[in-house]
Amino acid sequence: MKKIVQKEQPIAKEQVIRLLLTLQEDAVAAIGESNEAIDELRLTWLGKESEFAKLASCMRTVKSEDKQQIGAVLNGVKKSIESALSSRHVYQTSQASSSSDWFDTTVPGDLPPQGHLHIVSQAIDEITDIFNKIGFTRVRHPEVDWDWYPFESLNMPHSHPASDEWETFYIRYPGVPGSDYKKQKIVLTPHTSNGQVREMEKGVLPIRMINIAKCYRRQIDVSHTPMFHQFEGLYIDKNVSIGHLKGVLDYFAKHCFGPDRVTRIRPFHFQFTEPSFEVDISCGICSGKGCKLCKEGWLELGGAGMVHPIVLTNGKVDTKKYNGFAFGWGVERAYMMKSNTNIDDIRLIYGNDVRFLKQF
Ligand code: FA5
Repeated sequence: MKKIVQKEQPIAKEQVIRLLLTLQEDAVAAIGESNEAIDELRLTWLGKESEFAKLASCMRTVKSEDKQQIGAVLNGVKKSIESALSSRHVYQTSQASSSSDWFDTTVPGDLPPQGHLHIVSQAIDEITDIFNKIGFTRVRHPEVDWDWYPFESLNMPHSHPASDEWETFYIRYPGVPGSDYKKQKIVLTPHTSNGQVREMEKGVLPIRMINIAKCYRRQIDVSHTPMFHQFEGLYIDKNVSIGHLKGVLDYFAKHCFGPDRVTRIRPFHFQFTEPSFEVDISCGICSGKGCKLCKEGWLELGGAGMVHPIVLTNGKVDTKKYNGFAFGWGVERAYMMKSNTNIDDIRLIYGNDVRFLKQF
């Protein structure tokens, strides 16, 4: 910037005003374009050594009648420079903060951790869907029940050794005073078969139910947990045959485990079905060769059979007109038998280790 006045030199009013207005023009333009810090700019344009300060000092040498007019111009020029400086300040501050706050809105954000359904819930949903497609409706029956339903109603009289197999947890309960023998003892249901007579008691035929619930037994090892789930199918209608049962077993195995898995049926004994079968499926871990989980290549899926006439009678179903089949299998075991799960210890399912659970 060129020097426009010499300090203390006498100077005419018009000249001072012209110099002041030129200075104002230069200052406002220079401040608007400059990247210098505000303090620096203020020093340059209004500081003690600035041209403005020098022009202001001319006030001492101008004629007294010119002082008022020159003073007014001087104030006006100072205000213009101040206002240019303050607009520059606002701009610089907003520039500084926006550059540090800047972010790329196209970069994907950090998603909060998301959970998913537990594998047992996934298995229950899948099993429910498979059976829904062939007309079996999911129903719910108690998981804590009078022992009449899981035992006596199923042709296992009191003290019959057959009930020992279920290793049941009983609940200390005094029974309902004055009530019949059916409401004396309460158990954590050891199997979902308690739902058979309960479903028949609804009095609606034919029946095509799938009862999925928690079961409890005093067992724990690689293929047993004290709490597990079963799904119980019950089909009661006219002229039901073992062929129908076999058809449903094959349909389920094909849809749940895939076409490469094979099932087999072995004769067995249950008090509540006649004839009775044990249903096995080839192991998905070792493809039937034998491993830590299955031992001999087969995994027991569960039991099945034609509903015993005594059970139908207990459910007030006319055995002359109706008959049916039932099956009851473990949800966790069924899920473990799927080829892609590779779970060789059932206890892992309830270990609550998120590293394990999030794989499914
Ligand atoms: C029963 O519970 C019969 N109620 C099944 C039945 C229903 C037969 C209808 C005939 C007609 P079982 O005790 O075998 O059968 O158990 C069936 C299945 O439940 C077993 O094959 C297994 O898959 C599962 N299961 C049994 N105990 C446990 C346990 N402690 N932990 C995990 N799964 C189990």
